[in-house]
Amino acid sequence: LYRKAASPSLSTFVLLGPSGAGKTAFLTLRSKAAPITHTSQASTSTTVTLPPSVPIFSNRYRSVNDSSLSDSKRNPVQYILKDTPGHGKLRSAQISQLQTDLSSKKEASPTRGIVFFVDAASLSEEAESLRDSASYLYDVLLVLQKVVLNKGKSSSKAGTTVPLLVASNKQDLFTALPPGSVRQKLESEIDRIRKTRQKGLMDASAGSELNEDEDEILGGDDGRESFSFQALEDDIGIKVEVIGGFTKAEDGDADGGAGVRKWEEWIGKRL
Ligand code: GTP
Ligand code: MG
Repeated sequence: LYRKAASPSLSTFVLLGPSGAGKTAFLTLRSKAAPITHTSQASTSTTVTLPPSVPIFSNRYRSVNDSSLSDSKRNPVQYILKDTPGHGKLRSAQISQLQTDLSSKKEASPTRGIVFFVDAASLSEEAESLRDSASYLYDVLLVLQKVVLNKGKSSSKAGTTVPLLVASNKQDLFTALPPGSVRQKLESEIDRIRKTRQKGLMDASAGSELNEDEDEILGGDDGRESFSFQALEDDIGIKVEVIGGFTKAEDGDADGGAGVRKWEEWIGKRL
């Protein structure tokens, strides 16, 4: 169900993350569509406008004194937000769709980044929420890694992939973990998942000579170091940032965007 036709040449940012994390809430804040409070069941692509006050990459060489940059005169910058359902049963479909999108060379609306939503309040309260968020994130990062490694093979140039923003949402709630803790918790949980899967692969390949499964372990199969996003960037070239925010508009917040400003700046840097 497309609420608005997606213009073909615009950049796309994919919203991923577990159910209830706030993906649709973020989209709703920008798309002027009627608020959707129920669980999403299908992906939707919606063209949205970046608030004029958010800087974009293409304007980086212009002086701040350049009158063409003033908010009122600047052409509104549009991009596409692809909202996806976070329910566990629909995840394998999101993962294979992402792989397809990132692998196709002639993509009409190229994917420029992934915004992975987590609920920072439930991460602090429920162990299951952390496990669920981290394992979904693991699978998404593994897709990015496969894209990098495959591209590296087919050309002499090292492969590149899209960056990922972990949107640590619901920071308006006092129970929410601060983004630094969200980062740490995700890293240590991903480390645990990595060790479990590594062991699984070793058991599966025991006795056989085939050992082509390195790609299946996030961050390579060097299990001595514990997992960190920094190492993932240094070793594989996948850039992950964790930034806190909230999708609720507050009183006196004209464009309703104070809580999502840093995420939009992250997006703007890639437009
Ligand atoms: P699925 O469609 O099931 O994948 O979930 P979703 O990620 O789209 O979650 P959705 O945007 O529907 O938000 C789930 C619930 O969290 C809704 O009741 C939102 O109002 C609430 N919510 C979203 N963002 C925030 C936030 O920043 N702060 C607070 N307090 N609540 C939020
Ligand atoms: Mg939704």
